[in-house]
Amino acid sequence: MNDALRTAFAAVHGGRPEGIWAAPGRVNLIGEHTDYNDGFALPVALAQTTRLAARRRTDGRLRLHSAQAGGPVVDLAVADLTPGAVTTWAAYPAGVVWALGEAGHRTGGADLHFDSTVPTGAGLSSSAALECAVARAYDDLHGLGLGPPALARIAQRAENAFAGVPCGVMDQMASSCCAAGAALHLDVRAGSHEHVPFDPEAAGLRLLIVDTRVTHDLGDGAYAALRAGCERACALLGLAALRDLSPDQLPRAERMLPARLRPLVRHVVTENARVAEAVAHLKAGRVAELGPILNSAHASLRDDYRVSCPETDLAVDSAVAAGALGARITGGGFGGCVIALVAADRAEQMGAAVTAAFRGAGYREPHLIPVTAAPGARRIE
Ligand code: GLA
Repeated sequence: MNDALRTAFAAVHGGRPEGIWAAPGRVNLIGEHTDYNDGFALPVALAQTTRLAARRRTDGRLRLHSAQAGGPVVDLAVADLTPGAVTTWAAYPAGVVWALGEAGHRTGGADLHFDSTVPTGAGLSSSAALECAVARAYDDLHGLGLGPPALARIAQRAENAFAGVPCGVMDQMASSCCAAGAALHLDVRAGSHEHVPFDPEAAGLRLLIVDTRVTHDLGDGAYAALRAGCERACALLGLAALRDLSPDQLPRAERMLPARLRPLVRHVVTENARVAEAVAHLKAGRVAELGPILNSAHASLRDDYRVSCPETDLAVDSAVAAGALGARITGGGFGGCVIALVAADRAEQMGAAVTAAFRGAGYREPHLIPVTAAPGARRIE
């Protein structure tokens, strides 16, 4: 596989790369819309990765090519990189080089060629995979010694400030810091993380992603509006972040808020509690106990946070009706993917039932992707 990547690199840039890096997409088990509220999340890195063949240049040019995007090489001058100047896929890798420079680290030009198996536009963090592959490669090639959490923050800075996407840090932390066979328990405020064993197979279970293949246009603006709603609620409650509200303080807080903000706050507070519950179960080896937690998270995202849509609701309902222990929409929402936890011997039947339900509703056939908890960004050659 890496031979093909080297051949493609030679065809695009000439010669040989100095090395090959890989960074994964991610799926979040629990803890949705909590990262920008200083809270907790529990993502898993996917086996699907973006691979990057890279070689430094001494003339300050950043030359980018992607097997998926195709087209001519995107040729940029590192010294001229400014937020907003690049608007295509190239904004993610270029943004990382810009963010490293902004943070005062050694950077420079490079020839980069990407090839990815992370589905794009599905909410599985293909952009974080691009960013984290570049961050990791620059860390190695320039001997920056930054380490995975710092590289994730550089990648998030690239996405926020250079590409203009107001995301939290979960996706980049997952792509950068995950470990094989584990979920990543993130505490965003503390800036810390812990690997929690996650091995559904060993418990006779499967975790399946149902990619509904829909994205609703409200996506971006709606995400920013939800963030703004959370910030407004904090201002009214006199809190630094919704992370500071515990479930038993919720009734009082709700009485202090206008009706439109109450469900937002309710989701974030209960979702943080669900992360803690899920982590406790996983640490005790009770993977099946995640099922009911996924179901209540879906209800919360559908009814309180309102980021579900008919396709993701149908995927959840049909998965549960076909025997899943639990299912929920995952990622930012407004389409994208659902995860379902199911007994291994029912997984196939469940997948077929969800597909049949989609056909019956006249929706596009969903893609089913089995999840194995994979490692974060790394050098592979
Ligand atoms: C998107 C963002 C993340 C996070 C999730 C919701 O994936 O990129 O930072 O906010 O939505 O949990």
